[in-house]
Amino acid sequence: MGKDTPAPTERPQTTGAGARTAEAQTRGVYYATTPIFYVNAEPHIGHAYTTTLVDVVTRFHRLKGDDTLFLTGTDEHGEKIQKAADAAGLSPQAYTDRVAKKFQDTWNSLGIAYDEFIRTTEARHQAVVHEVLTRVYEAGDIIFGEYGGLYCVGCERYYTDKELEGGKCPQHDIPLEYRSEENYFFRMERYRPWLRETLEENPELIRPERYRNEVLSILREPIGDLSISRPRSRVPWGIPLPWDENHVTYVWFDALINYYSALKSRDAVERYWPFVEHFIAKDILKPHGVFWPTMLKSAGLPLYRHLNVHGYWLVDGGKMSKSKGNVVRPLDLKDKYGNDAFRYYLLRDMTFGLDASFSEVGLAERINADLANDLGNLLNRTLGMLGKYRGGVVPAPGPLEPIDEALRDAFVGLPERMTELFDALQFDRAIESVLEAVRKANKYIAETQPWVLAKEGAAGRLDTVLYGCVEALRCASILLSPVIPTKAAELQQQLGLKGDYTLQDAATWGLTPAGTPTAPGAPLFPRVDLAALNDSLEPKETALEHLPEVTLDDFAKLELRVAEILKAEAHPKADKLLVLTVKLGPEERTVVSGIREWYTPAELVGKKVVLVANLKPVKLRGVLSQGMILAAEDSEGNLSVSVLDRDLASGSVVR
Ligand code: MSP
Repeated sequence: MGKDTPAPTERPQTTGAGARTAEAQTRGVYYATTPIFYVNAEPHIGHAYTTTLVDVVTRFHRLKGDDTLFLTGTDEHGEKIQKAADAAGLSPQAYTDRVAKKFQDTWNSLGIAYDEFIRTTEARHQAVVHEVLTRVYEAGDIIFGEYGGLYCVGCERYYTDKELEGGKCPQHDIPLEYRSEENYFFRMERYRPWLRETLEENPELIRPERYRNEVLSILREPIGDLSISRPRSRVPWGIPLPWDENHVTYVWFDALINYYSALKSRDAVERYWPFVEHFIAKDILKPHGVFWPTMLKSAGLPLYRHLNVHGYWLVDGGKMSKSKGNVVRPLDLKDKYGNDAFRYYLLRDMTFGLDASFSEVGLAERINADLANDLGNLLNRTLGMLGKYRGGVVPAPGPLEPIDEALRDAFVGLPERMTELFDALQFDRAIESVLEAVRKANKYIAETQPWVLAKEGAAGRLDTVLYGCVEALRCASILLSPVIPTKAAELQQQLGLKGDYTLQDAATWGLTPAGTPTAPGAPLFPRVDLAALNDSLEPKETALEHLPEVTLDDFAKLELRVAEILKAEAHPKADKLLVLTVKLGPEERTVVSGIREWYTPAELVGKKVVLVANLKPVKLRGVLSQGMILAAEDSEGNLSVSVLDRDLASGSVVR
């Protein structure tokens, strides 16, 4: 058994693990999945990254001749989706139909060649969820009980105290609500020793290693049992349990099964399940690293082959968020820079497993350096010289000299090298290895000086050099085709090549037939004007809209006073509001303020702020608010309460 092959499970449901490795080597089967995305948000650069990555990886395996399958889809049940549908004023089905289509449309326009798109609301998926639940139930792994804990609806899961950061959800940076409910539980804790052992015996099962270690550290302490149902009365939007119609399946238990249900519904379990490669980001490591393997084990199904975990794309040094208004939209970048350039940047500028910072300038610089300068230039120079010296036709090469052999050798080893790097998840290095060879080809032109050969009438040498350049481009285009499929095909067309290559064709020098007529076209990757880009990214101050003038008398009608915040707590009924108790000289007042998204209660206590003290009291969601505190808000919706810069007694007048 290979060292990275998971241990076989007891029930011989599909091929055993030993046979699995041998089969993968002979048949070359590759089944890759993205997470199925929640439909409460539109696709952003993070979703686009994982999906593009899986597209690149499956294209690479197809190029190698493997039997590949690429699955993506949407996660459509649960509380969070139900709430989003309510907010949009649509039924959950109508709402999920709409957003699922948006995901499909986005992937189609980004040239994502998925083979299967699964939606968890489809009957074919629900049937398999029932089947898996029944297996787990029959294995004696379902019990009924009560559980209480801190729940994050954003993540749709409970958090343990240890997992919190500063008392908040580490993903969403929000305080969590305590919940307790009677639910069905999956006896997950039972499988903890087995999972630990499996991870210890298969060091590559979860990779890179840092994520395997993270899971191992979770497994060092009890993981408890997993609540796998929600009362239908509270969360109707889900798959009813086969044995109790009054409960629906917990959204993660439902969602994870998609990887299996998609195969089951096309009768392809035997063919692909033993080779499944999951790609996810670190945010959903626990469900995939702990829930999913124990679920599979209980259901008597073999484990995945690898769980491949990448980092996060950060924007402005942090997480993207709607409230910060910095969500990066893949279609905008595609429209501005072209799809292949965008894909290239995504794959080249993230080291798998680590976080990366998105920057539009970085994207533009990458295009200019690698694609316009290195690759684009090599093509232009080659086509230009062929046109000038050989009537646009590829000549037959003469005998190779050491300098020509060095160029050949820089390329022909790359298919093997790239395969190793792809297998090791080092996609950025794999791409860089091709670009290094492309740079060598540019250097080859500088060193062989074809223009001097032409002038000196060294026709044979010139033929060899020009042919070498064509071959370098042919090989580079094959190797890069998984990343830049459209431009690689365009490059081949401009060289007059018929395309349709396999990876092996990049290991063989000399496949271009002499006499091939070239067909020069537009530059593959136009250079981005960096100065203009920087200028357009400069924040521009927009004109202010002023209100009609007021007189001093009008202003004097407002009673503004310094108020000290004594206490701050969450509004019991509104998640954007805080209820503040403030001191105003001898008085104490209650003020309801919409600043909960921006301040924790602890941050506010002790602050001296400005209160509009004679504002008519109003009830806000059931709590009487006696005044309003002043806060500034910028055009992006960032908020800051106004505080005094010297310590004055509360009750002091502000004018
Ligand atoms: N529905 C669950 C997954 C269920 S899988 C059985 C879910 N959906 S999600 O819409 O929140 O998608 C999370 C995934 O989106 C991440 O694991 C990652 O693939 C991708 N990304 C979301 N934001 C990202 C970044 N900022 N950077 C990189 N990838 C990110 O969780």
